[in-house]
Amino acid sequence: MANDSLRRLIAELKTFLAAQGEDEFISPAAPLRAAGAVSKGEPTGKPLPKMPEGETLTVEFPKAVSPQSAFKNPASQLTEPPLPAPVVAAPEPARVIPSEEPQMNISQKTAALAELAETIKACTRCPLGATRLNAVPGEGNVNADVMFVGEGPGFDEDRQGRPFVGRAGQLLDKMIVAMGLTREQVFIANIAKCHPMTDPLHPEKHGNDRAPNAEEIACCRKYIEKQISIICPKYVIALGGVAAKALIADAKSLGALRGKFYDLHLDSVTLPRPVKILATFHPAALLRNPGWKKDAWTDLQMVMDELGLKGARK
Ligand code: URA
Repeated sequence: MANDSLRRLIAELKTFLAAQGEDEFISPAAPLRAAGAVSKGEPTGKPLPKMPEGETLTVEFPKAVSPQSAFKNPASQLTEPPLPAPVVAAPEPARVIPSEEPQMNISQKTAALAELAETIKACTRCPLGATRLNAVPGEGNVNADVMFVGEGPGFDEDRQGRPFVGRAGQLLDKMIVAMGLTREQVFIANIAKCHPMTDPLHPEKHGNDRAPNAEEIACCRKYIEKQISIICPKYVIALGGVAAKALIADAKSLGALRGKFYDLHLDSVTLPRPVKILATFHPAALLRNPGWKKDAWTDLQMVMDELGLKGARK
């Protein structure tokens, strides 16, 4: 059969199919008919083109295109088979934001602090655990509004297993009373729970105290953080540079940190509600530098003002 008659036959076949509404994939213009005159299956009155006798018709179907070439020539999608659905990455699981811990009631706080104290007494996470006479977890009102945090036990505290019971402790007691509170109403603890000594071979010596070092603070940090989260006081008062830098910011000096409130953020626990922290001078520093007491009193009055304590500034 001549090429001419084959072409004519194909053209007629296309015309016929277009009229029948079957050829959207052949002619991009075909969809325009959708709003048009002829509905599917409706007879058009046009006769089917006749295949010349003895001839066969070969129709080539379009080859599948790669997604890349389809994106290069979007029009090609009109005549190509639909592309495979793109592979969509599975959505990342929603980030789990730790919810705030529920506030404990008093008996839950008492039990949790007692259990933590037993853990602290058995702790040997750093070398201080080998040289202490007694660990000093802390003590006071489990429901306190105010919590004092010092740097670490000294000679007297190591012997008694209680915080701030030496000379610095006696001054702290006076500070607490000046605030209109009693020792029984507050909670007192330290960053380090065991006595850091300059000469660990002679724990019986006086004047054998030093500040806890970075490794000791890192080992103990989770204990003070847990205590704060259990008690969840309204205010933490950091006594001295070691406590202030451990709980507020490493880089700044006490002079730069004291005299203002910060929102307390802890590394290992989520607080049940916001807690404010204020830094002031350590009572031992006040014993050495009585001239600083005025500034310390100004700091303490900031907390008194907030709590509406007797003697607060109007
Ligand atoms: N100094 C502290 O920092 N803590 C104590 O318990 C006693 C003295």
